[in-house]
Amino acid sequence: MNVVAKLEIPAGFDPLGLRAEFPVFERNPGLVFLDTAASSQKPRVVIDGLAEFYRSDYANVHRGVYGLSARSTDRYDKARHSVRRFLNAAHDSEIVFVRGATEALNLVAYSWGATFLRAGDQVVISQLEHHSNIVPWQFLRDRIGIELVVAPIDDTGGLDMPAFAKLLAERVKLVSITHVANVTGHILPVRSIVRMAHARGIKVMLDGCQALPRLPVDVQDLDCDFYVFSGHKLYGPTGIGGLYAKRAILETMPPWQGGGDMIETVTFERTTYAPPPQRFEAGTPDISGAIGLDLAIGFIESLGRDAIRDHETALTEYAAQRLAAMPGVGIVGAGAERIGVVSFVVDGVHPHDLATILDQHNVAVRAGHHCAQPLMDHLGLPATTRASFGVYSHESDVDALVAAVKTAQKIFGCV
Ligand SMILES: Cc1ncc(COP(=O)(O)O)c(C=O)c1O
Repeated sequence: MNVVAKLEIPAGFDPLGLRAEFPVFERNPGLVFLDTAASSQKPRVVIDGLAEFYRSDYANVHRGVYGLSARSTDRYDKARHSVRRFLNAAHDSEIVFVRGATEALNLVAYSWGATFLRAGDQVVISQLEHHSNIVPWQFLRDRIGIELVVAPIDDTGGLDMPAFAKLLAERVKLVSITHVANVTGHILPVRSIVRMAHARGIKVMLDGCQALPRLPVDVQDLDCDFYVFSGHKLYGPTGIGGLYAKRAILETMPPWQGGGDMIETVTFERTTYAPPPQRFEAGTPDISGAIGLDLAIGFIESLGRDAIRDHETALTEYAAQRLAAMPGVGIVGAGAERIGVVSFVVDGVHPHDLATILDQHNVAVRAGHHCAQPLMDHLGLPATTRASFGVYSHESDVDALVAAVKTAQKIFGCV
């Protein structure tokens, strides 16, 4: 008998009803979509709102004196304002639009890192990081000789806090760490991490890719120096994301790309740069992406961020319990506080084979290393199967997953 957790979905939160807002479910009847951590589906308000923007208000921003360009610019600026509000940053100028979290992490490594770090300085990341918070630091290591230090995880799969504390030595100048782990869904104690690092004069960057769609985030309360995210995981379009950085820090950072929009004056001899955030937004930006992100933020706010957190927490716990109760199924990193993501392995079935069979049952999951190869190596796993949730995910999706995993086990003769 499976142990079925009591699912305490917050009152008034109706994932099945919400599906009417997501056309993908109408176009793909029976779809069990459990890959929201890779990218979320898009609500009608974003899809239709984007088309309407192109129909009614579109022109290039910051350049035209004509009304249409002014309207487009207003909407672009309003999007930045919405991101500021969503993160509770102090100033709109602390929000830089980028392509996504990957670009934001590269921007900070390239601009802040190359300016303020010296050979021998250390950047602390964790064993749980996505490749996008590993490779940019390796580039910097190879360019200027910084050292990359990896904070270990404990038996629960969460960050080993005593070990982390010991790593915060004098040469550490930055901790760059995920807020929620994309393989295990673990929520890291980021407030403590920031406090411990700041006590030693160390700056902190948080990768909010998996956290921001699921948890209320207040960057002033967290007091982090940088916070990065991707819009496409937040019910918004692909190609847009954000970098939050404290104004005093952003003002000291040099541009990383040159071109239109990021300048104050240009002669052939010399260029002066615009203040942040324009300094970091060279060229025509992803205008419609920012508008779509604004619409997505409005959608999330209309549902309520506490309600989303409660919904995803309950569903994640339900999925973890149902999967853990299956013979031959192991949860990766069980035990710590988690949200939105459950990775698991099934004895005798390779994750790719499992995902293929699940797909035949209309269950969409991700199988592989989830862009976290060092974590997989540490766990001694070539890959896992990952189910992840969004506002439209429901208990019945988990039940469909469990049933399809049972079928796969029968096909492979594992039960
Ligand atoms: C924790 C984490 N960081 C960074 C990224 C990279 O995001 P993107 O590919 O949108 O830049 C992801 C994407 O899966 C992620 O889950």
